[in-house]
Amino acid sequence: MKVTVIGTGYVGLVSGACLADVGNRVVCQDTDRDRIIALKEGRLPFHEPGLDELVARNLAEGRLSFTTEPGEALAEAQVAMIAVGTPPGEDGAADLGHVLAVARTIGRHLEGPVVVATKSTVPVGTAEQVRSVIAEELRRRDRAELPFEVAANPEFLKEGAAVADFMKPDRIIIGTDSERARQVLARLYAPFQRNHERILEMGLREAEMTKYAANAMLATKISFMNEIAGLCERLDVDVEQVRLGIGSDPRIGYHFIYPGAGFGGSCFPKDVRALIATARGHDFEPEILAAVERRNAAQKRLLGRRILSLFGEDLSDRRFALWGLAFKPGTDDMREAPSIPLITEIVRRGGRITAHDPVARANARRAFPAEWEEEGRLRFATDPYAALDRADALILMTEWKLYRNPDFEQMKERLAEPALILDGRNQYDPAHLEELGIAWIGVGRANPSGRARLLRSMPQKENTR
Ligand SMILES: NC(=O)c1ccc[n+]([C@@H]2O[C@H](COP(=O)([O-])OP(=O)(O)OC[C@H]3O[C@@H](n4cnc5c(N)ncnc54)[C@H](O)[C@@H]3O)[C@@H](O)[C@H]2O)c1
Repeated sequence: MKVTVIGTGYVGLVSGACLADVGNRVVCQDTDRDRIIALKEGRLPFHEPGLDELVARNLAEGRLSFTTEPGEALAEAQVAMIAVGTPPGEDGAADLGHVLAVARTIGRHLEGPVVVATKSTVPVGTAEQVRSVIAEELRRRDRAELPFEVAANPEFLKEGAAVADFMKPDRIIIGTDSERARQVLARLYAPFQRNHERILEMGLREAEMTKYAANAMLATKISFMNEIAGLCERLDVDVEQVRLGIGSDPRIGYHFIYPGAGFGGSCFPKDVRALIATARGHDFEPEILAAVERRNAAQKRLLGRRILSLFGEDLSDRRFALWGLAFKPGTDDMREAPSIPLITEIVRRGGRITAHDPVARANARRAFPAEWEEEGRLRFATDPYAALDRADALILMTEWKLYRNPDFEQMKERLAEPALILDGRNQYDPAHLEELGIAWIGVGRANPSGRARLLRSMPQKENTR
């Protein structure tokens, strides 16, 4: 099949490369010229495991190509996928500017029958808007007779595991009111069915809502568990035992019930906000979603507050090491990463930070004022252990694999006395760290004696370096 994918971000590029890999002829189009030049040379605009090899192979074998020219991209396309960003507008609602611009472009360049499938996460009713924008452009060209169909085909891939998710999806949602679109997309996705039917067919509006409901449900699980963790801390309860206790119930499950430093990324925060905006736009107060967002905002401030309570409001002679900048492991995506407000809080209060991340350094640099780096207030280490030297605490923000079982002896040696780890992901075993003489504070882990000891042993400010 000949497929055009418009937008070469995480969703567009992964979709394009995976569709090419099963034999389709895929042209990916983007308005970002530099990105397209790089892609033509096989250079990827972001880190995604396995994607470089997939792109290189399909480029070399001629099934995958890149262009900035929509006319060239859409020529003979049987399916046109819209995979551009839907960032939040000022009121939190999804900004459909890019999606509707693409619809206009499609209408201007269409020459034959095509199924226009929207993979971007878009509010209910967007497919109908896409249809009317394309129809309007066709009328303007006196080509109203050109047949085209629309479908809502939301994407569920996870950054960090995007290729595997696309190749082996849990489900493929095809929302459409057109039998032809349904057939074309079912054919396109047939190679990804694995051992049983993965395609769920539904209406346009239902497909659009499904994507938001899925992300809102996952975000709710996280915020719920963060709330329980907060309560556990106050009740001297270890949330880790509670997590295992509830996760074993198959109705609850173990997924997405890890307390932590709050959720970030390019999807959950913006999608929850967009759904809230949609609800309010329809005179319906989304009580749960609003609470999910508030809890997450508070959770993102948790580690910063903890640092202030341990070290005081003025951090001017304090230094911190931070491991993990990206919003989750496996990606260099810094969008809404909880590390951003934390670093900002520490630096604004005079503290110094040396951060390490295996892949997100370049993106992280762009997330903070350049002066911070120039003035040595924020440094980026290429070696995780080098970040620790004389730091008052290590803050673990992203559970990258390489941080899971580090050399604690070396860490203790490099950290200032008393060695302290603020574990924003509950990665480490507090009993083991206690044996090693490293103070540890997790999220929702009852560790009152450890914490009290730690507080007593904290050097007073005038005694510090
Ligand atoms: N990132 C994810 O994990 C993920 C997962 C599922 C769904 N989604 C949704 O998919 C959509 C895309 O997300 P993303 O993270 O891939 O976005 P992204 O920001 O990484 O990439 C978007 C791309 O679209 C391009 N673009 C913008 N306007 C264009 C236009 N008019 N014509 C051609 N190209 C244009 C941009 O240059 C950019 O390369 C969003 O709606 C998002 O919510 C994302």
